[in-house]
Amino acid sequence: MAVLMTLLSSKVGKIITTLILVILLMAGGVGYFAWYNFKREVPIVYKSAEDHFKYGSINSGGIPFFIWEVLPNLFAEHLPGPDGYQSLGFIWEEGKEMPVGVSKTIVGFPRQGSTCALCHSTTYRKSPQDLPTIVLGAPTQKFDSIANIRFLAACGNDPKFTPDNIIPAIEANHNLSWSDKLLYRYVIIPQTQKALMGLGLGFAWTNSRPDPGPGRIPSFNPVKFINFRLPLDDTIDNVDDPAVWNLRKHKGFYYHWDGLEGSLTETIIMGALAAGTKPDNVPLENLQRVEDFIRLIPPPDYPFDIDPVLAAQGKPIFDNKCASCHAFGGDRTGTVIPIQEVGTDDHRIEMWTQAAVDKYLAVGDGQEWDFTQVQKQNGYVAVALDGIWLRAPYLHNGSVPYLTDLLEVPEKRTTTFYRGYDVYNRDKVGFVSEGTTAETEGFKYDTHLDGNSNQGHLYGTELSSEDKQALVEYLKTL
Ligand code: HEC
Ligand code: HEC
Repeated sequence: MAVLMTLLSSKVGKIITTLILVILLMAGGVGYFAWYNFKREVPIVYKSAEDHFKYGSINSGGIPFFIWEVLPNLFAEHLPGPDGYQSLGFIWEEGKEMPVGVSKTIVGFPRQGSTCALCHSTTYRKSPQDLPTIVLGAPTQKFDSIANIRFLAACGNDPKFTPDNIIPAIEANHNLSWSDKLLYRYVIIPQTQKALMGLGLGFAWTNSRPDPGPGRIPSFNPVKFINFRLPLDDTIDNVDDPAVWNLRKHKGFYYHWDGLEGSLTETIIMGALAAGTKPDNVPLENLQRVEDFIRLIPPPDYPFDIDPVLAAQGKPIFDNKCASCHAFGGDRTGTVIPIQEVGTDDHRIEMWTQAAVDKYLAVGDGQEWDFTQVQKQNGYVAVALDGIWLRAPYLHNGSVPYLTDLLEVPEKRTTTFYRGYDVYNRDKVGFVSEGTTAETEGFKYDTHLDGNSNQGHLYGTELSSEDKQALVEYLKTL
């Protein structure tokens, strides 16, 4: 000790002390630099519940915002159309920095993420000349999640994905400091490229199954194969995105098409995990705000005239033929109807395995939240039909374009149609699914492909054409 004191008080000692101090300060500086540039969180809070639903972060990760912004210009050839992200079905409100369903957060640097509104909001038009109306909580009609993933992966695999191309493109929009530029060049761009290539590999299994197309996603296989690393199986899980409105009235219902969940709060956490949120980073408060919002948003009113006399004639038909499974308060509404009884396509049920249930039951262990109501089911939920007019195409796999079609026997239902065109067909009740524009703008849906069958649900098919017309008029009022 005495030797040390002598040393420190000597000249040499002073130099050593200074050096140690400098090294300590530098280490602290590096630590601070790393924290500031990669971990520092600047919360972005939206005052209105609508904006929170559309743009509020659910910690879903995503890719660096500045890179995400420039991809459509740099890699336009990998997009299906000329309108940037809109060609993948993103809804972009006039003058906004990002589309509905995309969040921007700052965790070190600005990052892009997905929100619930990406799959749970839509546009519709009353005619081709009409401006789009956005409806929050509605199933997306246009967003093509697999095309989006393939676009991002194609960017990552493109030899043009280099700092020399990306940094100048970012600088056209934002000022980057010299240290930002170094970070983008040596850390952020290479890591993003790796992540995008990984995304492509992670979803490679989708290449050997029918494409979901716009308005549908592979529902739980991504989590099974990518997050849980369960062995690949050959199940097909393409499903229609469902509506999430009026949920306070769905209390006690099963959630998800096959009813695999019994709790709304758990269903919402599942939505976040599927969107990319890590189990140890679930933003419970933000999700609670979303839950409060979707419990309360009312189903949208049918935007055309309804014939009140005809609708009144349809009500007793509904009460007689449909209400037990579909009216609020119906004996079986919100319960799972066995697949043998409803007879619709069974691929979605096959996908949901006991191994997936077990993984979900374990994934929340030790967290502030937990899954306790996940289970294997063997049928589909008889959902309430609130706002059913905007939930076309119908059934869990979106295989029936119009309400009028659903009331026909399967042999008479449409076998090929086009999804993703947002003009409404008021006569048939659903989105316009045939004709030149629907064909050009839409995605061809073939009911003969695996997972796409339009069989089953024969209820009401035996009614006279007058009764069907009255019933459909009543369904518009729900
Ligand atoms: C990538 C698209 C996507 C995102 C993002 C997404 N969901 Fe979903 N959501 C779906 C699909 C598809 C289903 C049906 C899945 C199934 O049953 O196979 C679903 C089911 C649901 C249901 C059950 C509806 C019912 O009545 O059965 C709720 C509630 C829900 N999502 C809420 C949310 C919330 C809240 C978020 C954000 C935290 C979210 N979702 C994020 C696509 C998405
Ligand atoms: C025995 C119960 C039962 C009866 C009765 C019944 N349905 Fe259904 N319905 C279901 C089930 C189960 C589903 C979900 C099937 C699927 O998605 O594969 C469904 C789905 C639907 C859908 C599609 C919902 C969506 O979001 O895509 C509509 C529309 C519908 N039924 C209308 C009717 C009408 C109209 C009647 C009366 C003529 C009727 N149903 C009678 C059980 C029933």
